[in-house]
Amino acid sequence: MPSLDDLTRPPGRPPRLLYGGDYNPEQWPEETWTEDARLMREAGVTSVTLGVFSWSRIEPTPGAREFGWLDRLMDLMHAHGVGVVLATPTSSPPPWLGHLHPETLPRDEDGRTEWWGSRQHFSHSSEAYRRHAAAITEALAARYAHHPALTMWHINNEYCTHDWGDEAARTFRRWLRDRYGTLDALNTAWGADFWSQRYGTWDEVLPPRRAHYTKNPTHVLDFRRYTSDLLLECFRAERDIVRRHTPHLPVTTNFMPFWSGQDGWAWAAEEDVVSVDVYPDPRDPHGGQYNAMIGDLTRSQAGGRPWMVMEQAAGAVDWRSVNRPKPYGLNRLWALQAVARGADAVCYFQWRQSRQGAEKYHSGMLGHAGARGRVFRETVRIGEDLAALGPRVAGTRLVTETAVLHDWDSWWTGGQEGAPSARVDHAEIVRAWHRALWDAHLPVSFAHPHHDLSGHRLVLVPHLHLLDDAAIENLTAYVRGGGTLVCGFLTGITDQDDRVRPGGMDARLRDLLGIDLLQEWWPLDEGERVDCGTFHGTLWSEELTPAPGAETVAAYRGGELDGLPAVLRNGRAWYVSTLPEPAALGALLASVAHAAGVRPVLDGLPEGVEAVRRGELLFLLHHGAGPVTVPLPGRHRDLLTGAVTEGSVKLDRFGVAVLEEHEPAPEEVRP
Ligand code: GAL
Repeated sequence: MPSLDDLTRPPGRPPRLLYGGDYNPEQWPEETWTEDARLMREAGVTSVTLGVFSWSRIEPTPGAREFGWLDRLMDLMHAHGVGVVLATPTSSPPPWLGHLHPETLPRDEDGRTEWWGSRQHFSHSSEAYRRHAAAITEALAARYAHHPALTMWHINNEYCTHDWGDEAARTFRRWLRDRYGTLDALNTAWGADFWSQRYGTWDEVLPPRRAHYTKNPTHVLDFRRYTSDLLLECFRAERDIVRRHTPHLPVTTNFMPFWSGQDGWAWAAEEDVVSVDVYPDPRDPHGGQYNAMIGDLTRSQAGGRPWMVMEQAAGAVDWRSVNRPKPYGLNRLWALQAVARGADAVCYFQWRQSRQGAEKYHSGMLGHAGARGRVFRETVRIGEDLAALGPRVAGTRLVTETAVLHDWDSWWTGGQEGAPSARVDHAEIVRAWHRALWDAHLPVSFAHPHHDLSGHRLVLVPHLHLLDDAAIENLTAYVRGGGTLVCGFLTGITDQDDRVRPGGMDARLRDLLGIDLLQEWWPLDEGERVDCGTFHGTLWSEELTPAPGAETVAAYRGGELDGLPAVLRNGRAWYVSTLPEPAALGALLASVAHAAGVRPVLDGLPEGVEAVRRGELLFLLHHGAGPVTVPLPGRHRDLLTGAVTEGSVKLDRFGVAVLEEHEPAPEEVRP
């Protein structure tokens, strides 16, 4: 399969990192394009994504093909040495499609239509939509297959639509038939005898539309699985068209970061290059950790291979209630942080900031202030940095010894109506555990619960409510094979149909974790904390009876749970029945990691400094304010500045150093 390596390490040329962004030049008169190309060169841009929202320009009336403007752009980019990631424009159909074929428009669960006038108004189930999307994809691929600027395909954009309408009902039934074969099997999986929901014919089965009261949770779960799969069908259809024309070029689609709508494992397996859009909030004090987590997840989805930041913001976004810009240096810090965590391409939404349309207040690499503005000056600086790093970084990998298990199937069971606590948020819990590891400078990857875990010394399960039998067997085999496992609360409560396991938690897991009886859950309210002796727990607490031989490492103090385990250890398997406050969770995971033989990247790092090893290089990234000195024995050379350091490295606010060990040249050695 073609990969990012083919673009970043072409034979006979030094490796490089891709740099650029979405380029939507149909907004501008053509004189501007020439200026854009000149400024792209100044900024070291090597790659732009064209055509993401160009359907109505290419096909202004049904069946028309207006490619002249795109031909000129492709040629212009090529003449300036900028490669083109060409997007299929299928995420935003032209108004004529909805007008001619109202059935292409999705319906929400209340039956309301999502009209054109914004974007992403297509139904994954609509036969007419799929036909028109395939036709425009075919035309685009045929036209540009041999264009020398074309480097990669970008299918659609952030697949995220839903549909509860009539065509969706038809494809939902088809999907359910494939999954269950018979209505009996469906009725059993859904527990349809509860509340008289037993289906007698397939035509009675509908998407989980607006209803009087709590919906059947397995029905809702299957609808989420189905939605992800139907969108994936749309992706595959377009991918196969472009592959037929250009089997030598990689294909991607850009994920939203840590997004619940698509099964990220299943989707990544269908791509040649895994790419993501990531927009940490500049005001979030943990924005850097969030960016790191998205990098870790995306790299893991790519199987450890280099991945691509398809979009980020050079400054402010326009979709939070208050949109603050990035202070100078933060854009560079987060861009280089992505590189540290395995990205070989750093791209943005979008190259030139719009003057019209819904996103005119969203930053661009070239902002409204133009080439003299500080945003563009930083754009130029990042281009220089990436050019300096490319030859040493592109294609290299990270080594991690800790895996965090994450799975969309399980995520989809969380947040359902009728849960013991509406405050339990899968994504927040995963983020809290990742943050604890980030604070402890422990490099991590993510893994699916079915993945081979034997290469990891430590496996963490922050929150996998649903675990099928294969996952449970995998976890038990991992510990039997010598691995160390830490599970958070609500692990393995339900099976693949979201049916509660006998005893309230899978018996094999209870055995593994040293739990004799899981009695009752005691979820905690906002602001409520439980005393666990040496720390406080939040969000959740649990009444459980330990099995003989299991060790209560920390116990609840006072209240109903007095003396019961908050942290339980059974050999190399640990169970944490609450969410410890951040510092306590960090300390707990760091000490379990230490016992498992996992070491931080560096010891003694000052607060706010992140250290990551990629290949043979050490990245130091300073997320805090004010200058810091990082103790670092030996001599090192910073690839960004050429400076040689000895014994320590100084970093300013948002400073970055990318260091290689430096042997003194013979003339530097004093006699
Ligand atoms: C992404 C999208 C881009 C742009 C960006 C703004 O979700 O793919 O087209 O809208 O957000 O932050």
